Amino acid sequence: MSPHETLHLGASAPDLLRAAKMLADGQLVAFPTETVYGLGADARNGRAVAAIYAAKGRPSFNPLIVHLADAETARAHVTWSDAAQKLADAFWPGPLTLVLPLRPGHGISDLVTAGLDTLAVRVPAHPTARALLRAFDGPIAAPSANPSGRISPTTAAHVLAGLAGRIAAVVDDGPCAVGLESTIVGLSGAPALLRPGGVAAEEIEAVLGTDLVRNAPGDGISAPGQLLSHYAPAERVRLNAEAPHPGELFLGFGPMDCDLNLSPSGDLEEAAAALFGHLHALDSRARPIAVAPIPDHGLGAAINDRLRRAAAPRD
Ligand code: TXA
Ligand code: MG
Repeated sequence: MSPHETLHLGASAPDLLRAAKMLADGQLVAFPTETVYGLGADARNGRAVAAIYAAKGRPSFNPLIVHLADAETARAHVTWSDAAQKLADAFWPGPLTLVLPLRPGHGISDLVTAGLDTLAVRVPAHPTARALLRAFDGPIAAPSANPSGRISPTTAAHVLAGLAGRIAAVVDDGPCAVGLESTIVGLSGAPALLRPGGVAAEEIEAVLGTDLVRNAPGDGISAPGQLLSHYAPAERVRLNAEAPHPGELFLGFGPMDCDLNLSPSGDLEEAAAALFGHLHALDSRARPIAVAPIPDHGLGAAINDRLRRAAAPRD
């Protein structure tokens, strides 16, 4: 891809129209969602989708989430079910992604699904994401807008730090409110938790009236994005630390002395929204990071999932 300057757009109607035209031309546009910034491309255009993988340097076996304006549009691409309807009624628009069987005539490029016969669909809640989806009037494939293996972006500045010159534009509408990626639920078999995220698994189980299958055994594709070393700061990350070792920066939770605190009051939603921003900020100081223990219930399960990936050994 030839280097070009990345256009920094706002969220005004003319800017979103311009972003929608760029998407229609097969260009890459990063945009805010309530979870993290996504790197968007027309999901029907194989060349545009290929450009996402190239810009991120992402392994091509990792399938992408398709963003849609509403549940009705989602139903045009996948085989819908009662469970899907229940979850869409309860959580859409919002930070939940459903994996469902692809429907014949879906029109989605196979590069989006990496050749699978299922598709991940999500209806985001962010008003700017929704306005862009309406202006574009089509399915937008969008992984998180970071180079592969790096921390997900929760501001336009994070997007530009990783991808400036490699994408056509970023739509800047401030920081993301949820700060963690969407929860992914597989519905092509028994309902399964494929990735913890912005909607707590317990809330999903309450709506379905059944437990989610976790770590589905033998389902090789259940977590293809779950490459262990992911969301990685450049320096080593140590978890469940009661206190920092000499030289370490300390990321706290709850009332304590630390360099940055995810939530001084111990609120898991506040911690989720702050997680990637604080990791970015500590990462820029080029020292190892120690992280205080985070409770493992509700959004804490998703926070701990991301932290384990940040701490995983890497090459
Ligand atoms: O909150 C989010 O979900 C953000 C924003 C931008 O919407 N997107 C995001 O996308 O996190 P990404 O590409 O970073 O993560 C997509 C995850 C990957 O783990 C991928 O393997 C999984 O979704 N996935 C996509 N399609 C799938 C499928 N058909 N079956 C199983 N997993 C799938
Ligand atoms: Mg990602």
